Amino acid sequence: LQTLRAQGPALHERSKAIGYSLSGAFYLPPEETIVADHGKGVRLFDTEGRSYIDFLAGSGAVLLGHGNPEIAEAIAEQATKGTHFYVLNERAIELGEKIIEIIPCAEEVKFLPSGSESSLNLFRMGRAFTGKQKIMKFEGSFHGTNDYAMMSGWSQSPGYPRPSVDSIGIPDAIQDLVYVVPWNDLETTEKYLRKHAHEVALLICEAVQRTVPPVPGFLEAIRKITEELGILLVFDEMVTGWRMSLSGAQGYYGVTPDLAIFGKAMTNGLPMTCIAGRSDVIAYSRPAGVRGAEQRVFFGGTLNGNPLCAAAALKAIEIYERPGGHERLTRNVAKLKEGARASAARHGVPVQVIGPHAYFQIFFSEGPVDTFAAQQASNTKLGYAFFRECLNRGLMMNSNARCYVPMILEEAEADIALGIMDEAFAAVAKLG
Ligand SMILES: Cc1ncc(COP(=O)(O)O)c(C=O)c1O
Repeated sequence: LQTLRAQGPALHERSKAIGYSLSGAFYLPPEETIVADHGKGVRLFDTEGRSYIDFLAGSGAVLLGHGNPEIAEAIAEQATKGTHFYVLNERAIELGEKIIEIIPCAEEVKFLPSGSESSLNLFRMGRAFTGKQKIMKFEGSFHGTNDYAMMSGWSQSPGYPRPSVDSIGIPDAIQDLVYVVPWNDLETTEKYLRKHAHEVALLICEAVQRTVPPVPGFLEAIRKITEELGILLVFDEMVTGWRMSLSGAQGYYGVTPDLAIFGKAMTNGLPMTCIAGRSDVIAYSRPAGVRGAEQRVFFGGTLNGNPLCAAAALKAIEIYERPGGHERLTRNVAKLKEGARASAARHGVPVQVIGPHAYFQIFFSEGPVDTFAAQQASNTKLGYAFFRECLNRGLMMNSNARCYVPMILEEAEADIALGIMDEAFAAVAKLG
């Protein structure tokens, strides 16, 4: 153990030379030396021999737990047959068929390594299909790191429908190509959809925006209005897909968009995502296009349709199809939400524990956090302190963000997580 204890900080020190963090969006405090060594089930083990119940879960990708033996076997089997071909392969074809079988909007499928690439390519297809240039998204939603998606995800609009820009380095011209509207505010959304219908190719939403579910009727209403106005409706199911139900948020809510993107839990942590949806839109990216090859939407990428990822996805979906998994997740999430609320109340810490049945987030706020402005106004300093207290006690999560509960969590482990949260609430209560 002593050797291990020394190894972690040394590895962490070495990581400075490669810029510390891998994702940039998630990094631990600089004084934390946690370097992942391996994972097993719901637990992550670091190079210093510490273990954590893992609600970060590979940013939500590892829904079936770390080192899942069935998925490992499927990957190993495919690895000996070839890791990549760049031509059609059986696993990718099978996976496409499976997605078309279970996802309501899926008539045709395209595979890409990341969600950011999926949204970027989908925007291009949507523009080609409608002949319109602009996209509309909701304030506070996240659809990846491409320039179009990085608008009004972190900060409020300067005035609807003008977006704020989420990163420096994005050309000014892109800001003019994106409109932003407030989530769950039908009146404003409808107003700008109608006003800009002539130039908006598509409206993209998360179906559950981060952790805020749609108010009753909202998804149905935007479905109806976009259809009437000739605007494509897109569900970004990176988070909701596989997690909320086998058929995603669209199956859960019974609202079918024109197009959707899926990823994260699809492979249980390998780099593959997909665009699924209407054939008449996606067909623009077929090799022959729809009006001749010269008119096609360029579609390519070295690792698209990777058979190793497809093998993992096929196995993961087979597991999601088994009875009991989603029920267990729902039960554990309900228990964790109720437990966290009760614990915070016991220690006099005002929190709002929100989210759908499949994941949740704790906001340090006295009032409801059902708008982006209210979420922005929550006490993120307390949220950060809570995250640190949990981390120190063996519960890994993201600071001021979603808790991704693994589907394989046992009730006893949920109790351990709640025990840790209780001590963390007690500690932050002292901070006021
Ligand atoms: C809703 C949503 N869309 C898109 C993305 C981007 O996916 P990726 O990180 O694979 O590029 C994410 C990533 O967290 C996401 O949460």
